[in-house]
Amino acid sequence: MELERIKDILQNTLSEKRFYHSICVMEMCEKLALHYGVNVDEAKYVGLAHDIAKELPSDEKIKYAKENNISINTVEISMPSLLHAKIGADICKKQFGFTDTMCKAVSLHTTGGENMDMLSKILFVSDAIGIDRNYPDSEYTRNLAFTNLDECILFILNFIIKDCIEKNKPIHTDTILARNYLLMNK
Ligand SMILES: [Fe+2]
Ligand SMILES: [Fe+2]
Repeated sequence: MELERIKDILQNTLSEKRFYHSICVMEMCEKLALHYGVNVDEAKYVGLAHDIAKELPSDEKIKYAKENNISINTVEISMPSLLHAKIGADICKKQFGFTDTMCKAVSLHTTGGENMDMLSKILFVSDAIGIDRNYPDSEYTRNLAFTNLDECILFILNFIIKDCIEKNKPIHTDTILARNYLLMNK
């Protein structure tokens, strides 16, 4: 499906804030893909569509996952919001015809994952550093993304894990696997 058509669908599906975030992530994905020599079209598509399932209510997320044979682990049952990544990947495959590589990137954009490919890395980072994001380290993280992508991912993973600890929330196993893999393959 054409990018403009997906844009229209998202504009009618998502809140104004989430749609703006999606555009910002798409633009950052484009910049990083150009910088690292990754397929720019694929990067723009995954950036634009990554949060398509984000605003489904929790019970609908669980229902969608069950009806579409998407595996749900115990952490995802306790925090159904995490499921928007896997559900988004399923929607992108079935409705937009995304390739497996593109679906994998969408699927891993919230938690990260072990041994991510370049497209997955670019989407994971872009989600955290789009120009809509404004937190104390956002400028530092944005610069790091263009100088050392893996270090940038580690920085974001550490932030996610520290946040889970501070809020006493469970940590998704894919986040731990992503961090361990990067640390052990430096
Ligand atoms: Fe997301
Ligand atoms: Fe996002």
